[in-house]
Formats: sequence, C-alpha cells, structure tokens
Amino acid sequence: MSLRPLLESSFVGREKEIGALEAQLAEALAGHGRLVTISGEAGVGKTRAAEELLARSGLPSGRLLWGRCPEQPGAPAYWPWTQALRGYVEQADRDAVLAEMGAGARTITRVLPALREHLVALEPGPIVESEESHFQFFDAMVGFLRRSTERAALVIVLDDLHWADPASIQLLAFLTHELRRLRLLVVGTYRTDEVEERAAVLDGLRRASERVRLRGLDRAVFSAQPSAFNGRFACSGRRGQMES
Ligand SMILES: Nc1ncnc2c1ncn2[C@@H]1O[C@H](COP(=O)(O)OP(=O)(O)O)[C@@H](O)[C@H]1O
Ligand SMILES: [Mg+2]
Repeated sequence: MSLRPLLESSFVGREKEIGALEAQLAEALAGHGRLVTISGEAGVGKTRAAEELLARSGLPSGRLLWGRCPEQPGAPAYWPWTQALRGYVEQADRDAVLAEMGAGARTITRVLPALREHLVALEPGPIVESEESHFQFFDAMVGFLRRSTERAALVIVLDDLHWADPASIQLLAFLTHELRRLRLLVVGTYRTDEVEERAAVLDGLRRASERVRLRGLDRAVFSAQPSAFNGRFACSGRRGQMES
C-alpha cells in the first residue's frame, strides 16, 4: 500500500471533500458498506485525498488495502484486486485467511494466482472459463470479504480506475450490490476526463454512494501554505508547477 506522501508534506485544504469521505467511512464502519469515488483531472490530488482518508481512519494498516490500476498494458486481469488482497494475505495469519476464504479459497487463488505463494499448500482449483466460473469467483470474493469484515472493518482503495481492466470493474460492480451489509469501504479514484470515454467503467461506478469530485485547489490555499506542495500541483482547475 502506498502511504508515500503522508510524511513528506502536510495535507492542506479539502476539508469539505475529506469530510464527505469520512462520513462514508463512518457508515461503512457501522456495517453499511459503501463505494465512494474520488474523481478529477490528473494531478488534482485524488490519490492524496484517498491516502489522507486512510491516515485519518484510525484503522490498523492491515485493514487498509491498496490496489492501483497500471497504465501499462499487459497486467493480468484483476490486477488492482490482486495487489490489494496481496497486501492483506501478506500481513494476516495464513490459517485465518484460509478460514475467511472458506470453500472459495481454491476459486480465488485460481483467478488470482499471485496470492497462492502466501497461502502455500493450497492446490488451485481447476481452470474453467465460463460465465458460471466468473460468478463463482465473484461469489467467493464476496464470501471472503464478508467473513473478513465480520472480524474487523476494511478499506480497499482502487486507484486510477480509468486504467482498470474490464474484469476488475465487473467484480467491483458485483461487490457493490453486496456492500450494504458489510463493514467495508471501497474507494475508487479515476480521472474524470479519461473515464468518460469508457462507458463500461462508468457503468461499474454508477452505484457509488458518494461521488467526490476534486477541482483545483484555491490559490489562497497555496499562498497560505506553500511549503506543503512539493513540486506538482493542480490549481484552480489547471495543473502546473508552483512558482516560488
Ligand atoms: N491537499 C493536498 N495537500 C498537500 N499536497 C497535495 C494535496 N493534494 C495533492 N497534493 C500533492 O500534489 C501531488 C499530486 O497529487 P496526486 O494525489 O498524486 O494527484 P492525482 O492522484 O489526482 O493525480 C502530490 O505530490 C500530492 O502529494
Ligand atoms: Mg493518482
């Protein structure tokens, strides 16, 4: 998981947006799971806002999962989910993870083979490519996340969803139907300008409970706290370099 800039510079502005995200987190912690989205142009502060939410969540790092959709083509299907869950299985007790996956463990590790090395001695299930097998995988994932969040709440950030593979979006859409009963907050970030061309991605995000749209920070915020910005920033809807 990337909490990279948290210690590098202080977070400025965005009280309203972070407040909206925190309200959704509170609902999720109370057992009413949510998908929330953070959108805006490149460099406006989407990733940073998600990191700030995690930092303020009060949850232990093992309950904060992060997956990023890669810009480069060629990643396996479900890559952001694999990354998020790999962070989870690496930190958690192996037997506890297997118990949470239950009967779905073989299905999950067949579709997300990168998890297998942390769950040694688990034979993958047979490879069957059909609509039914996709459904089984989605259902296994929901079961896993349900059992995991019975123990403690989870936050999963899927960063840069405008680069998501279609399968990742399908899983997100499926999970979103089931979220309301889970102690799970899913946060998706995406570039507004790029996702508008990808109807499938937008479709998958339509069920978001809360959409936080970031616009460039007000110039007044920069003037008040210029040291908080280390290089790149977006200001009044434009991206640029800070003038010293
Ligand atoms: N509210 C903020 N306070 C301080 N720094 C910020 C803030 N928002 C963004 N930044 C900084 O601006 C840069 C770009 O932000 P980032 O979150 O990576 O943008 P995006 O994910 O929208 O492309 C990063 O260095 C980040 O730390
Ligand atoms: Mg980003």
